[in-house]
Amino acid sequence: MNGRVKIFTYGCQMNDLDSQKLYSELAKKGFLPTEETKDADVIVINTCSVRQKAYEKAISNLGRLKAHKRVKPSLIIAITGCVAQQEGEGLRERMPHIDIVLGTHQLHRLPDLVNRVHRHSLPVAETAFSDCIPFLDTIPGAAFSNQPHRAYINIMQGCDNYCSYCIVPYVRGREISRDYRKILDEVRLHARRGVKEIFLLGQNVNSYQGGMAFPELLRHIHGIEGIERIRFTTSHPKDVSDDLIACFRDMEKLCSHIHLPFQSGSDKVLKAMNRHYTHRSYLDLIARLRDARPDMAFSADVMVGFPDERDVDFRDTLDILESVRFDVLYSFKYSVRPGTAAAELGDNIPVEDKVERLRVLQAMQKKITIENNRRRIGGTYAVLVDGNSQKNSEQIYGRTSHNAIVNFTGATALIGEIVSVKITRANPNSLTGEIS
Ligand code: SAH
Ligand code: SF4
Ligand code: F3S
Repeated sequence: MNGRVKIFTYGCQMNDLDSQKLYSELAKKGFLPTEETKDADVIVINTCSVRQKAYEKAISNLGRLKAHKRVKPSLIIAITGCVAQQEGEGLRERMPHIDIVLGTHQLHRLPDLVNRVHRHSLPVAETAFSDCIPFLDTIPGAAFSNQPHRAYINIMQGCDNYCSYCIVPYVRGREISRDYRKILDEVRLHARRGVKEIFLLGQNVNSYQGGMAFPELLRHIHGIEGIERIRFTTSHPKDVSDDLIACFRDMEKLCSHIHLPFQSGSDKVLKAMNRHYTHRSYLDLIARLRDARPDMAFSADVMVGFPDERDVDFRDTLDILESVRFDVLYSFKYSVRPGTAAAELGDNIPVEDKVERLRVLQAMQKKITIENNRRRIGGTYAVLVDGNSQKNSEQIYGRTSHNAIVNFTGATALIGEIVSVKITRANPNSLTGEIS
């Protein structure tokens, strides 16, 4: 069988990369991507389950596809990723128009299963966990990367941390690290393709154990010719070692930005979350990173309304915002995830309180972000150009080492190049500059 495929992607960067790989693997079997749902012969919903809202989005999108299938009975519908893993066969029972349910360790099987469903019209659900995940080693074809100068690479999958609120260990499985030789081979391949920036992905990259420790892996990548920038996500604060901090001191290709989720500023809440650090040790870690790399920029995740979070706990969270002064903060209302330890604690913070805390926190962060951005005015930064600006056809945009987005006037031919840009204006979520 061949035809057109459309993949809807929800969730984290890991899921974005999985979708890229799925497009790439399906293309080898003759399926070409399409933007249009109505033209698709195969539709894949690659799902996230980290919050109730993400889960509901996946389910409502699936619901909408029922009508498409009625109009086009040959349409093959697959649900992949974390919701598929969580619900398994049960999804098909609730929504019989789904043909394929594919868990997070089984994604490599999608092309074969699509053909099997096409030939025999028999639905399948495959959600077994395994000790090795073949899809980790899949390298997407250059044509399927959204940005040819940047490559996202899986170095591990799964998580052993069991933060009490989090469903990820249950839907991605235990931590599995990819062999360092495969990672380095992949980096070299990307370097030959002209990639300049390597972005390493894992739920908790600091605990990477694929034949060497994470800082050592970074040093090896640093030595590969052609690669000019290295980034990674996500780091757990408890696992940021002195050696990793030393990498920021020593490795110029390592970008001046780290995403370091703190979740809460209250020691009581952090303990109940099973996070293994304190308000104080988090701020101390930030100080040590700043000491190693004075222009370091920080981003983080935080949530409000964890069970028993009182006003004093919330004030401790605001204190972290004020002390660290993140450039970017992703903030969420806590939602109960089935099967997690925190689900046993109930959900005793009224939704109005969660909404109000989120409002206060986001207002404070908005101010900090714009103040941080203003401080960049007059400075000159190396910007890796990502693409044409959507708002202004004469402008292009890219990212500085500290991960700020900069818009400036320039030729399309500069996409993929690193150019020097002087900052002239600060916007709420980006900077404006001119080539210097
Ligand atoms: N592995 C990463 C990302 C985990 S999921 C890490 O450990 O940082 C991304 C973010 O979703 C988390 O950092 C957390 O802020 C948020 N999150 C996870 N579970 C949640 C829940 N039950 N309710 C609300 N937000 C949640
Ligand atoms: Fe979830 Fe915690 Fe693992 Fe991150 S470290 S994926 S928040 S269990
Ligand atoms: Fe979501 Fe799964 Fe990523 S739950 S955040 S898509 S690991």
